[in-house]
Amino acid sequence: MSQAVRQKFNVEEIRKDFPILSRKVNGKPLVYFDNGATSQKPDVVADAISLYYKHENSNIHRGVHTLSQEATTAYEQVREKMQQYLSAEHKEEIIFTKGTTDGINLIASSFGKHHLKEGDEVIISAMEHHSNIVPWQMICEEKGATLKVIPINDQGEIDLEAYKGLLSSRTKMVSIVHISNTLGTINPVKEMTALAQEKGAVVLIDGAQSVPHKPINVQEIGAEFYVFSMHKLFGPTGVGVLYGKKEWLDALPPYQGGGDMIKTVTFERTTYNELPHKFEAGTPNIAGGIATGAALDYLNQLDWEGIQLHEQSLLDYGTEKLKQIEGLRIIGEAAQKASVISFVVDGIHAYDLGVIMDKMGVAVRTGHHCTQPLMNRFGILGTARASFAFYNTKEEIDQFMEALHRAIKMLK
Ligand code: ALA
Repeated sequence: MSQAVRQKFNVEEIRKDFPILSRKVNGKPLVYFDNGATSQKPDVVADAISLYYKHENSNIHRGVHTLSQEATTAYEQVREKMQQYLSAEHKEEIIFTKGTTDGINLIASSFGKHHLKEGDEVIISAMEHHSNIVPWQMICEEKGATLKVIPINDQGEIDLEAYKGLLSSRTKMVSIVHISNTLGTINPVKEMTALAQEKGAVVLIDGAQSVPHKPINVQEIGAEFYVFSMHKLFGPTGVGVLYGKKEWLDALPPYQGGGDMIKTVTFERTTYNELPHKFEAGTPNIAGGIATGAALDYLNQLDWEGIQLHEQSLLDYGTEKLKQIEGLRIIGEAAQKASVISFVVDGIHAYDLGVIMDKMGVAVRTGHHCTQPLMNRFGILGTARASFAFYNTKEEIDQFMEALHRAIKMLK
């Protein structure tokens, strides 16, 4: 990270950067605890989108005119910023996608078409969200490969011994979530990657929920692929990142055909463009790309050590408070955990809790969190989930607790 840290972490100062945090919902100060679904955006991100459309709007990679050249330069600079942010070796290793789901589908399709055959195995874990299950099911079915699932324990941690037992020369791909959106579990992805690679398998890490909590160094983790969405990283919706090791991206076939991803086209034959454009067919989300650059500038000047201490204190405080409620059970108590707390309350449907808490200004997610197999593992239909970002406070947890107590009283 190149820029100097703006200030030691100070949550009240940070909150001023996010205008939505000072609004009211249903007459109460908003408590936004649905950061696992999407994060809020600092002013600079919203401003970058507005500025682009008002003063810079033009298509990229296509025009000789000034606006197009300027937009192309601005967009490509974001790729370089992203390379630095992730500590990737080459800027061509950064592919812009629509989001995490798009990135996983891209790899499942491109990798699967060339590298999976009957008898091969793909390994995922029991805590994956649907985006890291269904694309693998689809390609395994097409190719006659088998999907294997690493079990988890009652705390919501991966069973590493079972994982080692599943790995074999048949394993071609291991696709694992870095931080579980439902449980908050932080998986030992570096160790898991090394174990898979010892067997000759390729690894994809789903970083959708990890990027908002700490900067990621993709070379240190060592996986061939790492994917995430910008909207969870305080950036715009509709922009995702697929990091891939250059030798792998070079070798894989394109995912979608269209403009930008070609070098030459005749009716007989098409030759494909080089990286990263080979995987970026069609006009991308240009405004979103440029706003991604603004988000990275913002993230680069934050005190991440301070943020991690703050988030840990929110997690500890919230956990301690929730545990005092009779009949409440926290789902996911891993030793290594991010600031996400899922819970169920005896005899009360999570949906009802969510609706009543919303009336008191508190936004939590309820339901299966796109992890139905994980709900089955715990024998539940769904949970209520409070997921904290660095701009959340202990005072907000107090308001959340008050709303929860009132909701439980009304529903019991
Ligand atoms: N996967 C996102 C969530 O956990 C949408 O809410």
